Amino acid sequence: LKPKVLVESQIPEEAEALIAQYCDIYKWDKHEPMPRELLLEKMSDIDGLLTSSTKIDDHFLDHAKQLKVVSSISVGYNHFDLKAMKTRGIMGTHTPNVLNETVADLAFTLILSTARRVTELDQYIRQGQWQKSDNESLFGIDVHHAKLGIIGMGRIGEAIARRGKFGFGMDVVYYNRNRKLETEASLRVEYCPLDELLSTADFIVLMTPLTKKTVKLIGKREFGLMKPTAIFINVSRGQTVDEAALVDVLENGGIRAAGLDVFEEEPINADHPLLKLKNVVVLPHIGSATHQTRFDMAMLAARNLTDALTGQTPPNLIEELK
Ligand code: DGY
Repeated sequence: LKPKVLVESQIPEEAEALIAQYCDIYKWDKHEPMPRELLLEKMSDIDGLLTSSTKIDDHFLDHAKQLKVVSSISVGYNHFDLKAMKTRGIMGTHTPNVLNETVADLAFTLILSTARRVTELDQYIRQGQWQKSDNESLFGIDVHHAKLGIIGMGRIGEAIARRGKFGFGMDVVYYNRNRKLETEASLRVEYCPLDELLSTADFIVLMTPLTKKTVKLIGKREFGLMKPTAIFINVSRGQTVDEAALVDVLENGGIRAAGLDVFEEEPINADHPLLKLKNVVVLPHIGSATHQTRFDMAMLAARNLTDALTGQTPPNLIEELK
């Protein structure tokens, strides 16, 4: 008898074919997330779940008595209650590395589009106001040779640092739980205490994973330390920022602009005050969303899943669950 797998995310045919070699598949093929009730009901005889953001907690696991592995098509795994999974001996996997360069590209997209006011000026042209672009009040700021501060120097942080240092000649500093001496040497970047980074960087990129320690890492006090000319970029998770404090500091000119791929609540409500501000560039959590990278992530997630269900150690078993 083959193990039963629930594929809750949209995946390419190739990934499905890989899973089908070893497992029977039940597929949720609608674009909206599977309703929680239906999901819980379905989980009763499922051995493996392939998902991207479904919350795996005690309540969920109570309904999943046969479950052996949850394979997430994401590098972040803040939707996993690791303690609950560990207690029950459930494996959890993620998809690191294959998305590093793509997410770093997106971070730079936000850096460049906030600095050069790309979305704001695009709107002017569409509204027939080309002449305004000659107006000094619409000029941007330089990215090249500015000071880039990266909070969270993991693999993606390094890819951002490389672009900043070698592509744009930026002065790159970083803050991380532990110093990365090898990275400092190879990328010529400098470690900087958090408050000093916040008060001196021209571009502050938040790239830390969401954990108990990083919830609202950046709030009123931290925004207060930033230069009024600073630009704040968040490509990590919305909950790492106090969003109300961000709105405040943007409205009061405490910083110049913000570029955001992630929000406290997703999807963000269309009436949200952030969306009323011209100096904010927003994206719908698409850091890793290119055709190639999402393909690679799905294939890796499928491999993690099938390895776990065929008695092997999956290549990307989450560190805390080892
Ligand atoms: C990730 O891989 O964690 C991205 O943010 C998509 O969720």
